Amino acid sequence: MKPDRKKLAYPGFFISFEGGEGAGKSTQIRHLTKYFHDHKIPVVLTLEPGGTEIGSKIRELLLDPRNTALSSRAELLLYLADRAQHVTDCILPALKAGKVVITDRYADSSNVYQGICRGLGLKETMALNDYATYGLYPDLAIVLDLPVKLGFARMKQRVLDRMELEKSSFHNKVRRGFLQLSRKYPKRIQVINAAQTEDQVRVEIQDLVRNRIRKSKGTSLWKKMEK
Ligand code: TYD
Repeated sequence: MKPDRKKLAYPGFFISFEGGEGAGKSTQIRHLTKYFHDHKIPVVLTLEPGGTEIGSKIRELLLDPRNTALSSRAELLLYLADRAQHVTDCILPALKAGKVVITDRYADSSNVYQGICRGLGLKETMALNDYATYGLYPDLAIVLDLPVKLGFARMKQRVLDRMELEKSSFHNKVRRGFLQLSRKYPKRIQVINAAQTEDQVRVEIQDLVRNRIRKSKGTSLWKKMEK
């Protein structure tokens, strides 16, 4: 299915955050959101799974540790159903209204967790992502990369969900999967070393985003950021 470029045109800017568990996505998303607020740029902050009302019900199914019987294909299709709803209800309208959209996880998570780690195949998840998203992909996907042990040490206090309860070999595969994907799409997917200090990561992300917006959207967004 070929994406309809006209339907997908927008003046906003689309950013996804990706990575393994405990890499500091939430903290860095908070910093980047503040950066846009400081420049008076409208930003929509969202997440997967669960960025819509329907999606939050799908999220419950996906992350409930009691759902051990969920098959890999059913799992993938639930993430994709959540995404399809997310694109039409939330992401695309915001981008069309000229906003910046920051999502905590998107299509690359399915490519890595289901395509690579569950072994469903990258070719298959990419084709299904095309269908679920209508061909809408982030202008910039930021992967926070961190050794698995460090990530889990950071989340020690939390009760783990169904995905986090996977073995450490699975999480090592997740890490390698994101790195593999970033080599395949070196422009769209940027890897940041999340083992640096919080502030170093914050500045690196800020510089990356500024550069990208300047290069790809020489429009009103960039004018606001220049101030
Ligand atoms: P979440 O609680 O949002 O945690 P995180 O901080 O890790 O993002 O959990 C989402 C989980 O779902 C996470 O383990 C990654 C997984 N996931 C997939 O396996 N496939 C997907 O397509 C998405 C969006 C997430």
